[in-house]
Amino acid sequence: MHKNKEKFEMDYSSFKTEISKRRRSATTRELTKIAYSAPKNVISLAEGMPNEETFPFAEISIKLNDGSSFTLDERELGAALQYIPTQGYPPLLQSLREFQRRAHAPPLWESRDIVIVSGSQDGLSKTLEAIIGPGDPLLVHDPFYPGVEVVVSPHKAELIAIPQDEHGVDPEILRETLMKRQLSGKKMPKIMYINATGLNPTGIVIPLERRKEIYRIACEYNFLILDDDPYHFMHFDEVEPRSFLSLDTEGRVIRLDSFSKVISSGLRLGFITAAAPLIASIELHLQSSHLHAPTLSQVILYRLMKLWGYDGMMSHFMRIRHFYKQRRDAIAALAEKHLSGLADFTLPKGGFFLWIKVRGIKDTWKMMMQRGVTKGVIMAPGAAFMKDSGKPCNAIRASFAKVSYEEMDLAMERLADLIRSELRNNYFINGNSYID
Ligand SMILES: Cc1ncc(COP(=O)(O)O)c(C=O)c1O
Repeated sequence: MHKNKEKFEMDYSSFKTEISKRRRSATTRELTKIAYSAPKNVISLAEGMPNEETFPFAEISIKLNDGSSFTLDERELGAALQYIPTQGYPPLLQSLREFQRRAHAPPLWESRDIVIVSGSQDGLSKTLEAIIGPGDPLLVHDPFYPGVEVVVSPHKAELIAIPQDEHGVDPEILRETLMKRQLSGKKMPKIMYINATGLNPTGIVIPLERRKEIYRIACEYNFLILDDDPYHFMHFDEVEPRSFLSLDTEGRVIRLDSFSKVISSGLRLGFITAAAPLIASIELHLQSSHLHAPTLSQVILYRLMKLWGYDGMMSHFMRIRHFYKQRRDAIAALAEKHLSGLADFTLPKGGFFLWIKVRGIKDTWKMMMQRGVTKGVIMAPGAAFMKDSGKPCNAIRASFAKVSYEEMDLAMERLADLIRSELRNNYFINGNSYID
C-alpha cells in the first residue's frame, strides 16, 4: 500500500469491459451539463427541454415529522421538474460531496467523484456492468444480497463465493482462494462485492481489522472493492464502523450509498463514490439508460439536507439506529420464546434481518415458498441468498423492520408451528429419524 501519493496510480481501463470502453458521451447530455454551469447571460437553444409553463404543477410543499416544512417555489420547482446533467442535481452533488468528505474522510478526496443514481441497485448494476464482462469472475461473500446475481448471471459471470464466519468474509480463505487461482493460471477477479455493515441477509458487521485485511488482499491481488453499504448508519454497536472508503489509499473502493433505508425507498436515490475515471464510465452508462436519477427526488433530498445540515442528518440516523435496534431486540426475544429448540440464530449487529437456522430440516425452500403462506407467514428461504440457490439450505431470513410487535410475535409463533409440522411430516415420510 502506498501512502502520501498525490493521485491514484491505478490503470482503471484494465478493469473495464470492452463495452464500457466503447461507450461515448451523448452530445446532448454534454450540452445540458455545459448549459447548467454557464453564466446566466448565456442563452441555450441546444437542449430538447420542455417548457415548464406547460406542466400542471404550481407548488410542492413538504411537511416533515419534526414539524418543519419547506416549499419548492416557482424557480426551484421549475428545476425539479426538468432534465438535469446526468451526474446529478448540482446543488445536491455539492451537498453530498461535503457529506461524504465529513462522514468518511477518504484519502485523496480530490481524485474521487460521485454520481447520483436511482438507489443502490441501480448503482450496483451500472458498476458491475462496467467491470464484469462475459465469463468474468466476481468475488462475493456467501450468502449475499441476490440483487448482485440478477445483474451478473446474464453475463455468465463466474461467482467465486467466499464463506463467512460470524464476522463475515474469512480473509484467510479469500487469500488462499486467490493464491490457488493464480497458481492454476485461472482468470483473476477484477472486483469483489461486499456488503460490510448489517449484511443482508445475516446482519453481520465486518470488524475493522478484517476490513483492513480484506483491503490488503485487494491491493495484493489487484482487485476493486464494491462496498454496497445501505445499512452503514444502521449498526447496533457503540462503535461506528469504518468504511472501506475511509481505508482506501489506492483508489480501489467503489462505495454505494443509498437513501432507501434512511430517508425513503420510494425517492429512489443513492450515490456512488469512487475514483473519478470509474465515475466517468458509470456516468456514460447512465447517459444511455435513464439520463439521470429523478430530479424531483433530488431536489427534495437537497432541501432536506440543507434544512438539517450534517449534524441534523446524523441525529436522524441516530434515531433510526435506536428505532431498529429496539426492533432487533424484540424479534430476538420473540425468536427465543417461540423457536427455542427448533432453530438457532445470532444477534444481528446491523441492518434489518434475523438469519434463522432451522434444526432438523435440510432445506427451507418449499416450507417457506409453498406452505408458509397457508400457515399465514412469509419469510425468505435462505437458499435465495446463496451462490448455489439450488442446493439445500436450512436458513430463513426474517425482517424486523416493518411489522408491528404483535405481528412479529404471531409470525414467530406461526413459524414455530410450521417447523413442527414440517418435522412431523418428515418423520412420517422418513421413518423414525428426522432429516438433518
Ligand atoms: C445490500 C443491499 N443492496 C442494495 C439494495 C437495494 O437498495 P436500493 O433501494 O437503494 O436500490 C438493498 C435493498 O434491500 C440491499 O439490502
